[in-house]
Amino acid sequence: MTDSMLDRARLYQDELSEIRRDIHAHPELGLEEYRTSDLVARKLEEWGIEVHRGVGKTGVVGVLRNGNGQATVGLRADMDALPMQEATGLPYASQTPGRMHACGHDGHTTILLGAAKYLAETRGFNGTVNFIFQPAEEGCGGAEAMLKDGLFQRFPCDAVFGLHNRPGIPVGQFATSPGVRFAGAAFFDITITGKGAHGARPQEGIDPVMVACHLATALQTIVSRNISAQDAAVLSVTRIQSGDAYNVIPQHAVLAGTVRTMKSDVMATVERNMKRLAVSIAEGFGARAEVDFRNLFAPVVNDDREFRLYADAAASVAGEANVERNAPPAMGSEDFGAMMEQVPGAHIMFGNGDTAGVHHQAYDFNDEAIPYGVALLAAITEKKLPRGSID
Ligand code: NI
Repeated sequence: MTDSMLDRARLYQDELSEIRRDIHAHPELGLEEYRTSDLVARKLEEWGIEVHRGVGKTGVVGVLRNGNGQATVGLRADMDALPMQEATGLPYASQTPGRMHACGHDGHTTILLGAAKYLAETRGFNGTVNFIFQPAEEGCGGAEAMLKDGLFQRFPCDAVFGLHNRPGIPVGQFATSPGVRFAGAAFFDITITGKGAHGARPQEGIDPVMVACHLATALQTIVSRNISAQDAAVLSVTRIQSGDAYNVIPQHAVLAGTVRTMKSDVMATVERNMKRLAVSIAEGFGARAEVDFRNLFAPVVNDDREFRLYADAAASVAGEANVERNAPPAMGSEDFGAMMEQVPGAHIMFGNGDTAGVHHQAYDFNDEAIPYGVALLAAITEKKLPRGSID
């Protein structure tokens, strides 16, 4: 039984590797995945699956029903590439300069396609599977776009499941944990407006550079003084820009950076206190501050029940010894968190073997990992939508 799911998934290896390499050679940025989503839609149609295009601009949802069960499940993969130059030298390397599938979303898309084919052929479930092909995971709001387009109203899901490859973990192994998996992330820009003056006569102006310096220091007290030591949080000021000349006090200064937290309420505290510090410190100097705080990613938090089922599904594919159920969470982010805020679900990492890291110009998705991903998604579907007595 265990071997047969993986064995069956392996039957698709050649076909799926070809699809994966085709997507790899034609990378598209977030919300521009026209070719990719067209390929996805055509494959789903070819396998007899109901297709909905244009969900969240370039997103695609495939719907597969079997039996008379009312239970539903969502399986989600991301499709977008990154704005960087590939340096793998592979025969199927990116044909588009400055675009590269350096995070393996080509592989994730292929795995979800493989699961769709598998489930359409085997139909070992009773209920509805929604195959969610999401655009723009890399910071362009693809999950949000699909949600705003009524993803879970149009395609109700009792639970959603996502996955991501991880270089450094051997192929055939999985890693996840209960609770938080990825931090929530925000970007911020703080614009300080002072009053320009001659550099030799500061008394005639209001120096925004001084405000920026005080503010950058004060912002560091949010994590150290306002957040419990039990709650992980990072606040990095990564850019301070102001002025062009040695002898001119500028009119404006801009601070920018990122915030990562493991909980949404901690993120809300950071935002509130950042705004208070910026406005009041600027005011203290006679300047003004405007804060643009953009909450980009919700934390990815595994639901306890769905986590257990998902880890069990992984164990049924790869064996319990190949499933790490207590992997540490990451301060990186994944926009699947936005979907998991609306529907309980779980996320898992799977091994990409000994390859370059994601977002590296020498990275490539490992095609050997495809059958493991396919079998995992088929296994969790059969667990969530058991056939029971209906045949
Ligand atoms: Ni990624």
